[in-house]
Amino acid sequence: MTAQLSKKGEAWSARFSEPVSDLVKRYTASVFFDKRLALFDIAGSLAHAEMLQAQGIISAFDRSEIERGMAQIKSEIEAGSFEWLLDLEDVHLNIEKRLTELVGDAGKRLHTGRSRNDQVATDIRLYVRAAIDDITLLLNALRSNLTDLAEQHADTIMPGFTHMQVAQPITFGHHMLAYVEMFGRDCERMADTRRRVNRLPLGAAALAGTTFPIDRERVARTLGFDDVCHNSLDAVSDRDFAIEFCAAAAVIMMHVSRMSEELVIWMSPRVGFIDIADRFCTGSSIMPQKKNPDVPELARGKTGRVYGHLMGLLTLMKGQPLAYNKDNQEDKEPLFDTVDTVTDTLRIFADMARGITVKPDNMRAAALQGYATATDLADYLVKKGLPFRDAHEAVARAVRACDDAKCDLSEMSLETLQQFSPLVEGDVFAVLTLEGSVAARDHVGGTAPRQVRAAIARVRTQLAE
Ligand code: ARG
Repeated sequence: MTAQLSKKGEAWSARFSEPVSDLVKRYTASVFFDKRLALFDIAGSLAHAEMLQAQGIISAFDRSEIERGMAQIKSEIEAGSFEWLLDLEDVHLNIEKRLTELVGDAGKRLHTGRSRNDQVATDIRLYVRAAIDDITLLLNALRSNLTDLAEQHADTIMPGFTHMQVAQPITFGHHMLAYVEMFGRDCERMADTRRRVNRLPLGAAALAGTTFPIDRERVARTLGFDDVCHNSLDAVSDRDFAIEFCAAAAVIMMHVSRMSEELVIWMSPRVGFIDIADRFCTGSSIMPQKKNPDVPELARGKTGRVYGHLMGLLTLMKGQPLAYNKDNQEDKEPLFDTVDTVTDTLRIFADMARGITVKPDNMRAAALQGYATATDLADYLVKKGLPFRDAHEAVARAVRACDDAKCDLSEMSLETLQQFSPLVEGDVFAVLTLEGSVAARDHVGGTAPRQVRAAIARVRTQLAE
């Protein structure tokens, strides 16, 4: 489908007997959103032109004219002076028309052996690949800053929760490193997706390939693709790579949202575990005392739209017969919004990780409130020979007594504790302290400060690779 641009500009209008209405034109056009693919579109065209010349399909003169025209178009786009026309439907036809204005017939030869179908599929793959690289850098910046925070608080004790009830003491450093792990897997998912994104559709042309003697491997190399797509119908029609990217993006936002939820809770004056720097918060227009954690709240909210885009793309794809259908034009806005939302969110969160002030006294007081060392007492009894279930039972009775006496396990006298088990001795108080409790969980993946420091070193090595 070599485009013949008519006077009005449509690539296909010579075949039609009446023009489309303005509404249909607006309905079918994509230029006002797909123009953001412009620089990828130009890169793809230059690689295509280089190959056409190398294969003797166009002349060296035509190729250099195409390069000259594209350089000018690029500078017009960068300067904001390029005139995007709705009449020209999409980014591809807008650029091709301008090229022809600038360099004449050479511009008209560019589309030889190519279709907008393989052209747009190539542009999107280049776009998603760049987005993956940006997101990976941002994820690692966030991981690095969270690791710094973890290091500052490798010894800071806080209550660990299950069911939102105080469970066992942990360190704040350990808690931060849990997110560093999650965002690390997100990087892995991005890298894995990238392998399947990074294949070249160009050469598939409209759907069946082309009669020209093209060299697809050459174009793939020029554009940094690892391979070509091996079936022309598949190359122009499937957007699974974009769906996969959006799925990985949805998981990132799910992690961001969990973290946001914790930040919001921790910043509530009722809890008071942290403060977030003013530049990430806003006040209330009516309540002068308020400082609201807007950024984490918004990130939690924006997670919804990223999930929605994933669902949108899956649904867009599911009913399409092979090969290309115009439905696919609808892949762009969800994809772009996903990239914008995830990159903005990660950029802000990486900075916000530096703006978190921890309040160790409040964390400690909370850890002392919920019998957080009850498991340690049970483990202590087990080590003295009691079966675990009996130890659990003895400690449960001790906790009930503490509840009545309104004190912590560590505040009971030795004699009182011995009422629950004769195995209790003077050394019990060492395990009932918060420090003793965390230090005792001293194995890979445990919360002991020694292990937290080892985990930090491991992450730092990974980040430096
Ligand atoms: N704007 C179109 C898209 O985004 C480009 C491909 C158009 N191809 C076609 N045969 N109409 O999918």
